[in-house]
Amino acid sequence: MNKALAAQTETSPFDVESIRKDFPILQREVNGRPLIYLDNGATAQKPKSVIDAIDRYYRDQNSNIHRGVHHLSQLATQAYEDARETVRRFINAGHDYEVLFTRGTTDSINLVAASWGRRFLEPGDEVVISTMEHHSNIVPWQMICDERRAILKVIPIHESGELDMVAFQSLLGDRTRMVAIAHVSNSLGTINPVEDVIRMSHEHGALVLLDGAQCVPHMRVDVKALDVDFYAFSGHKIFGPTGVGILYGKEDLLNNMPPYQGGGDMIKKVTFEKTTYNTLPHKFEAGTPNIVGGIGLAAAIDYVSQFEPRALADHEQDLLDYATEKLQQIPGLKIIGTAEHKASVISFIIEGQHPFDVGTLLDQQGIAVRTGHHCTQPLMDYYHIPGTVRASFAMYNTRADVDILVAALKRALEMLS
Ligand code: ALA
Repeated sequence: MNKALAAQTETSPFDVESIRKDFPILQREVNGRPLIYLDNGATAQKPKSVIDAIDRYYRDQNSNIHRGVHHLSQLATQAYEDARETVRRFINAGHDYEVLFTRGTTDSINLVAASWGRRFLEPGDEVVISTMEHHSNIVPWQMICDERRAILKVIPIHESGELDMVAFQSLLGDRTRMVAIAHVSNSLGTINPVEDVIRMSHEHGALVLLDGAQCVPHMRVDVKALDVDFYAFSGHKIFGPTGVGILYGKEDLLNNMPPYQGGGDMIKKVTFEKTTYNTLPHKFEAGTPNIVGGIGLAAAIDYVSQFEPRALADHEQDLLDYATEKLQQIPGLKIIGTAEHKASVISFIIEGQHPFDVGTLLDQQGIAVRTGHHCTQPLMDYYHIPGTVRASFAMYNTRADVDILVAALKRALEMLS
């Protein structure tokens, strides 16, 4: 059995203190205090194994892929295609050629909107998104709907941050072609009932794209069991490098879509009169890709896969419950997003305080949180707020991090009062 496969089939005990030692950055200080990193929704930190894989690639293997007969090119090609297979196994796709490397979730969604949308959307067709989408799952659809004279519809949400499924049912009709929603909301943490969304959409003949950027770091996804048509996620939020992401698409859909970009590697033959395109996945991977990004992402997936998904989920659920309880005790603090099913993300506002001021005072105490609209301006408009403070947890966070956050928040509020 190769090393990557072994890493995905043998589990390690979930020991948060030993996990923390795998992440070099967690040992550093910020503003004279030990770093408390609670901005994992924006990007997660990288374990040594990912940093080493990137270093090893540049030291020992660096070469272009799919192009050379020489030894290094073959090594690099093998490593890149092994990485694709690691991703395939991780999401349980049927074939490695259904796994496309992209620049990230944004690029993956743009690929589907531009390629599928341009070929298949007709004037009057409908695309359905939701109120809680990230801008990357709004703007590409607005752009293609404008171009194709299609109609963009928006699923409302309840105050809790849950999709209004009754309203969703009534939005579905004969003209619905695509339903594109977040699997997990980046701003609220809501885990959407994607099984129901997929079933209901398919009953109306609509395709479903899930933005999985905030989901894959927290729970295992099985694209075959979900029967989802497209699934997008980013490497850097799952402990891998930036600049690399994944688009999973069902084979027949990808085969019927035109290329997204033209260039090297995506062609079979080029003449000035006519170009024929390469097969999957290369048809959608024009130009020299982020080779080391793919290899680093596979190392990140190997890292995550060594832990029992249940152990990881239980740890994060404990952090979410503990932080929710402690934060709620702070006078004037209101949690935005109280869905029954949530990933370990807590957004909050504090009466009379701007999120930026709170975030700045937390940073001075070594605590990294995100403040602002989190690229979900329509969602902030729904709540009539300019933004939130968001603490987003990862597997290496602890209850002690929560205690430090709560104490620092109390100090910040004293300073602001
Ligand atoms: N989408 C990222 C976030 O939620 C950047 O912070």
